[in-house]
Amino acid sequence: MPLLEIHDLHVTFRTPEGPVHAVDGVDFTLERGRTLALVGESGSGKSVSSLALMGLLPSPPAIVRGGPCLFEGISLLEAPEAERRRLRGNRMAMIFQDPMTALNPFLTIGRQLTEVLEVHRGVEGRPARARAEQMLHDVGLADPSRAFDQYPHEFSGGMRQRVMIAMALLLEPSLVIADEPTTGLDVTVQAQILALLKERAQKNEAAVLLITHDLGVVAGTADEVAVMYAGRIVEHADVDTLFRAPRHPYTRGLLQSLPRLDSTPKVELSVIPGHPPDPVRLPAGCPFRPRCRVAVERCAHERPALQEVAPGQRTACFVAEGA
Ligand SMILES: Nc1ncnc2c1ncn2[C@@H]1O[C@H](COP(=O)(O)OP(=O)(O)OP(=O)(O)O)[C@@H](O)[C@H]1O
Ligand SMILES: [Mg+2]
Repeated sequence: MPLLEIHDLHVTFRTPEGPVHAVDGVDFTLERGRTLALVGESGSGKSVSSLALMGLLPSPPAIVRGGPCLFEGISLLEAPEAERRRLRGNRMAMIFQDPMTALNPFLTIGRQLTEVLEVHRGVEGRPARARAEQMLHDVGLADPSRAFDQYPHEFSGGMRQRVMIAMALLLEPSLVIADEPTTGLDVTVQAQILALLKERAQKNEAAVLLITHDLGVVAGTADEVAVMYAGRIVEHADVDTLFRAPRHPYTRGLLQSLPRLDSTPKVELSVIPGHPPDPVRLPAGCPFRPRCRVAVERCAHERPALQEVAPGQRTACFVAEGA
C-alpha cells in the first residue's frame, strides 16, 4: 500500500467573485521514503493541495471534495477532525516557508519542542529535554543545550529553519510536507537544509512532499516531480525522465526557462508567454491551450486526462500522447 494515495482532489473557495477552483482534480501516489517535488507557477494550487491534505484549510471558505485521499489507508477527507488532528501531530508534519510565523516568539526553542513531546508522547522533564537536545544536535545546531534556552529571534533564518525541521521530525512522522522551505535563504544554506531534510526523512523512511519554484532544488533533491498547472497535475515522472524527456508543452516551457548555473541573479520560472487562466473562469478543454504552441482543435473543448505515456511517466496532453 502506498503511503499516500490521492484521487481526484478538488478544492474550491467561495468568494464574492464566484467559486475559485484552486485545485481541480489532483491525482498522485507517494511511496514511503520517496521525495516528490511539486512544481508550477504561482497560483497553480501547490500550497492549497498540501493544506487540504493536512486538513488545514478553514471551511468556509474552502470546500474540499473528491477522493478517496488515503494516508496510511485512512481516508483523509472522511476522517473525523479528532483523528485528523492526531495524524497531523504524529504521522504528518508540515514545514512552512517562514519559520517566524510557525514558531512562537515568546517561548524558548526548547519549550516548543518539549511541549510537542508532552502533548503527543507524554514525555516530560529531563527525558524530554534530552530528546529535544538530541534533535537539535541532529539538525546541525552546534550547541544544542544553549539553543534549547534561546528564543527564535536569537537565531538566523537558516538556524530557525533547522529548528522547524527538528519540530517537524520530532515525532518521526511518515509524511513531511515542506512548502518552499528554503526560499529566502542563501544558496549554500539552502543546499544544507535540503540535504538535512532528506537525510533525516530517509532515516525514518518518511516520504517528503517538497513544494518549490526552484528546478535546481528539484534536480538535487527529488526522486520524482509533479508539475502543476491551473489546479491540476499535468505531468508526473521520475526526476531523470522529467528533465531528460519532458512530454507536456508546459513542462518543456518550464525547463527552457531553467536558469543557467552560472547566471545570477536567479531567474523565476514564469517566462512562458501569457498567463495562467483565471481560477474563477477555468476554460473548457485544456487550461494550458491559450499559451500552448502545439495545441490542436481538440484541446479547445476536451480536457486531457493524466495518462501513462512511458513507463513511470504520466502526461495530460493530447499532443504529447502520440509523441
Ligand atoms: N482563501 C482563499 N480564497 C480564495 N482563493 C484562494 C484562497 N487561497 C488560495 N486561493 C487561490 O487558490 C489558487 C491556488 O493558490 P496556491 O496558494 O495553492 O498557489 P501556489 O501554487 O502555492 O502558488 P505560490 O507558488 O505563489 O505559492 C490561487 O488562485 C489562489 O489565489
Ligand atoms: Mg504556495
